[in-house]
Amino acid sequence: MILRAEGISKQFIRKSGTTNVFIALSETDFTLSEGKLTVITGRSGSGKSTLLNILSGLLSPTQGRVYLGEQELYAMSDKELSILRNRHFGFIPQGQSAIFTLNVMENVLLPYSLYGEYGEGREYAKELLALMDIAELKDAMPNELSGGEMRRMTIARAMIRKPEVIFADEPTGDLDDENTEVVFSLLKQTAQKGASVLLVTHENDAYEYADEVYKMSKGVLHREK
Ligand SMILES: Nc1ncnc2c1ncn2[C@@H]1O[C@H](COP(=O)(O)OP(=O)(O)O)[C@@H](O)[C@H]1O
Ligand SMILES: [Mg+2]
Repeated sequence: MILRAEGISKQFIRKSGTTNVFIALSETDFTLSEGKLTVITGRSGSGKSTLLNILSGLLSPTQGRVYLGEQELYAMSDKELSILRNRHFGFIPQGQSAIFTLNVMENVLLPYSLYGEYGEGREYAKELLALMDIAELKDAMPNELSGGEMRRMTIARAMIRKPEVIFADEPTGDLDDENTEVVFSLLKQTAQKGASVLLVTHENDAYEYADEVYKMSKGVLHREK
């Protein structure tokens, strides 16, 4: 299913002495390509997370619409949107997002515990953990993992329901070069298997993995590759 945005924009009200309107995202049309790794770069504060959050159903735009296939995200109820996100989207957030009271396997299976049956989920979780090279850590607790291992666990969690669209917001910000390469290459492989992958990063290394590159500058998105 194609993810597509029409005329989306976002304004925030900032209270700094006088109240003023701040445009975090100027009016933007965007279609995410299937089976490709799309990279968005840009300076801190340029609006990258704002765009990603709008596209992934987390932040409603001031104007415009977002569609997954025929379904309009922000025309749905909260519950319908949550279910759509759970089934069709994988999200790798900025910073750490492990649940520290759950072990690695339980963290990866979390999307299943919210909605629906585990089905083949447990088997697939083992496959994903092997793919991420952390199979032997399935019973470990997050605080026993390195930053890179925890990040790979988060990627496995984002992929557990075989989502059509994967969003990653600076997923390598706290990783060393070696783990950064691993994460980019895993995202690339996921795209090659057919998912639409949207990666926000300011690592230049991401360019060699990217099929398409955009740059965000003061809320304006430009295609670069
Ligand atoms: N909830 C909010 N209220 C007010 N301003 C915000 C809010 N969220 C983000 N911003 C502002 O919007 C701009 C873009 O933020 P963001 O999308 O997080 O940038 P990036 O991810 O590129 O670093 C920043 O200047 C930020 O301060
Ligand atoms: Mg950001």
